[in-house]
Amino acid sequence: MMHDLVIIGAGPGGYVAAIRAAQLGMNVVIVDKRGKAGGTCLNVGCIPSKALLHSSHKYWSALYDFDKYGITCEGVDIDIQKMMGHKDAVVNDLTSGIAFLFKKNNIQFIEGHASLKKNPEGVAVHVNASSGDVHLLKAHHILIATGSEPIEIPGLPFDEIKILSSTGALSLGEPPRHLVVIGGGYIGLELGSVWKRLGSDVTVIEATDDIVMTMDSDVREALKKSLKNLGISFKFNRKIVGYRAHEGKQHLQLLATNETLEKEEMMSCDAVLVAVGRRPHTQNLGLEEAGVESDDRGFIRVNRHYQTSLPGVYAIGDVIGGMMLAHKAEEEGIAVVESMKGQAGHVNYGVIPAVIFTQPEVASVGLTETQAKEKHTVKVGKFPMTANSLAKATGYTEGFVKIIADAKTDRVLGVHCVGAQAGAMIAEAAMAMEFGASSEDIARTCHAHPTMSEAMKEAALETFSKAIHK
Ligand code: NAI
Repeated sequence: MMHDLVIIGAGPGGYVAAIRAAQLGMNVVIVDKRGKAGGTCLNVGCIPSKALLHSSHKYWSALYDFDKYGITCEGVDIDIQKMMGHKDAVVNDLTSGIAFLFKKNNIQFIEGHASLKKNPEGVAVHVNASSGDVHLLKAHHILIATGSEPIEIPGLPFDEIKILSSTGALSLGEPPRHLVVIGGGYIGLELGSVWKRLGSDVTVIEATDDIVMTMDSDVREALKKSLKNLGISFKFNRKIVGYRAHEGKQHLQLLATNETLEKEEMMSCDAVLVAVGRRPHTQNLGLEEAGVESDDRGFIRVNRHYQTSLPGVYAIGDVIGGMMLAHKAEEEGIAVVESMKGQAGHVNYGVIPAVIFTQPEVASVGLTETQAKEKHTVKVGKFPMTANSLAKATGYTEGFVKIIADAKTDRVLGVHCVGAQAGAMIAEAAMAMEFGASSEDIARTCHAHPTMSEAMKEAALETFSKAIHK
């Protein structure tokens, strides 16, 4: 049988593409070696980490925050097994939800390992199913959405007990006394926060001189301050050059990358989380043999319609590079399928929001101030959450909203939020930028009172004229 579409990988890119394709009348098979759809994001990424971030924040609040609201908590304790059970139940519910959507849309899901197989008629997908069956799936279109996997540091292989990737750090049985996190990026800061709140000492070792270098510098400064207040320590400009396990302890040898620091130092800890980025997941896919080209970092090369170098074979999501975010993969999943059906299929890469779910959350869309100044004369409006009435009422006054607009046209170029609901607030900014809004457009939009999003309106007022409550 000739299928319309065979998708390899059922993460947010692949499964969303499958559903959209079915909606457009295509006959779809999707293959994933995990028994459950949802990929890294649902199984061992975004969703379980958000469950733990939420639970650990509640625990931390009961210990240290409730008092300021007049609530006394005595005997506050954690049951890590139960917390993990809640996380696992959330993951199960959501992955079952995708299985339901596959059924509803007549999408065939096969659990197994898929690879490309060249044959005289073209290329097909060979599947070694977990059931023991072998399939050779022929299709008009093949979509690779195999995502990414954590990068290992040489000499520090993951055992998921003492040397953890994000997967292991989502399932620890108890907080390590001292957790060293290598990499001050998204994963390091989110999972570092979880274990700090649950009782670990946490030290973040970062090779550059700041956390999440892709974020606006004001955001980085504010986030760093909040994380230091939480009790996380940072060591910047350092790399791991040696590792040894001895008597239950992990010993790391650090080398300074900046000559003002002591050149070498040793650090001992109980567990190490390696969060230095992710690399495309392309091994054993038969890409090279089939003639699918990758770049020098292993990302599959595609054109603007997500076509690879092999006709009929497409790729989306982390495996093609760019922002390694679930929602970017989802947008590409929809775009690629729509373009297979002759529709426009377009992703606006200038307006992909990014959120780090620390407390406060940080959220950004568009250009940072530094990037904006490279090409534009800019004006910047900033409004602090301390002047927002809901932030005051709820006690979540950390953070600000910052809007960067073109000085001549007033068009919004970038928006950066730090605050308790920054992740929700950034949607408004993304929508505004998608519609090509000016800061005046946002400022003249009526915002409900009292909400955190009034800070967005005030920052916009500040950008084009003057904030009211500042
Ligand atoms: P990342 O790219 O966010 O951060 C990695 C950090 O490690 C960088 O700051 C880098 O300078 C540092 N680094 C690299 N090599 C190092 C070394 N040898 N020693 C010390 N530091 C080193 O990568 P991360 O945190 O692993 O996350 C992977 C991807 O997952 C990210 O691209 C992110 O987009 C995605 N993600 C997104 C989340 C969200 O949307 N909230 C949450 C978690 C992950």
